[in-house]
Amino acid sequence: MARDTRIGVVGGTGAVGTVTLGLLEEHGFEHVRVFASARSAGRIVNGHTVEEATPEALSRGDVDVFLFSVGTSASRELVPHAVAGGATAIDKSSAYRLQDGIPLVVPEVNGRRALGNAGIIANPNCCTIPLTCVLEPLHEAAGLSRVRVATYQSVSGAGAQAMDRLAGERPADHDLRMDWDFDGEEFDEESKLRAETRKIMELPELPIQATCVRVPVMVGHAEAVWLETEEPLSAEQARALLEAAPSVRVEDFPSPGKAAGIDEVLVGRIRRDPTVENGIALFLASDNLRKGAALNAIQIAELVLDGTLAAA
Ligand SMILES: NC(=O)c1ccc[n+]([C@@H]2O[C@H](COP(=O)([O-])OP(=O)(O)OC[C@H]3O[C@@H](n4cnc5c(N)ncnc54)[C@H](OP(=O)(O)O)[C@@H]3O)[C@@H](O)[C@H]2O)c1
Repeated sequence: MARDTRIGVVGGTGAVGTVTLGLLEEHGFEHVRVFASARSAGRIVNGHTVEEATPEALSRGDVDVFLFSVGTSASRELVPHAVAGGATAIDKSSAYRLQDGIPLVVPEVNGRRALGNAGIIANPNCCTIPLTCVLEPLHEAAGLSRVRVATYQSVSGAGAQAMDRLAGERPADHDLRMDWDFDGEEFDEESKLRAETRKIMELPELPIQATCVRVPVMVGHAEAVWLETEEPLSAEQARALLEAAPSVRVEDFPSPGKAAGIDEVLVGRIRRDPTVENGIALFLASDNLRKGAALNAIQIAELVLDGTLAAA
């Protein structure tokens, strides 16, 4: 379906931005402009001439929806100008995710939060999105009481420069990395996963603990998840719930390679955890640039534009 909506992609030269441009074409958006910093102004990306994302350019009122994938400080500076010009701004940085009054949205989980909103809508972290897609149907059926997660996050999650670095590195030099801000106890990636999952699922007290690492894989994040439920839930029941869940595909052995380039979150290794009461262990993988970032934001835009949950 062709769409008349005027879309501005801010950060259109980056890892998420370039994937966003391809997905907008797939989703029928024909009026797309690309913005980035002064460094890239004038470059051609996917057939679009890059414009500098100045406050004046963003607040001119000639764009309906801005999709931001710039860093947190650039988002803090630029997003308010886009909204002042009357646009809806869907922001993929962590600048607004936990701010009261700003919806943090995964359409399959809490899409209703995006409806009727005409200002800023925040797009969650690339691990939070697939995790909540998988947890929500299990929570609805049996009530979550605890979640533990270990992530295996690809290098594209750290942006285009990190991808260039990995491409130029000798395999013998590959290693795990932990390239997030450390507060002396946790990386901010781990606390984001906890706080964002609680906000999206509206479970403010949910016990959830994460250990995040970056692995030398180009695209696709994986997560090992151990969860406990209030009511008994067999592995077979969990599998059936996940087979019926939107945007989730059950796959015996999910991997980043299988998830890269597709829209669904892959989930498998669904089994009982015999070490706790009502425990389930599972493994998921998803494309961090698509469902973890660009695709989720476009689905939010479609929800807002259509004013209905039908698109979720
Ligand atoms: N990568 C992921 O998997 C992922 C997933 C979820 C969320 N995110 C979030 O999305 C954002 C972008 O991530 P990325 O991985 O795409 O990073 P990236 O590859 O480094 O791209 C950054 C983009 O932001 C632009 N930019 C930087 N500073 C700017 C400024 N002051 N004004 C205008 N544009 C500016 C850059 O433009 P130039 O070309 O001009 O430098 C580039 O287009 C980050 O907030 C990140 O946390 C990323």
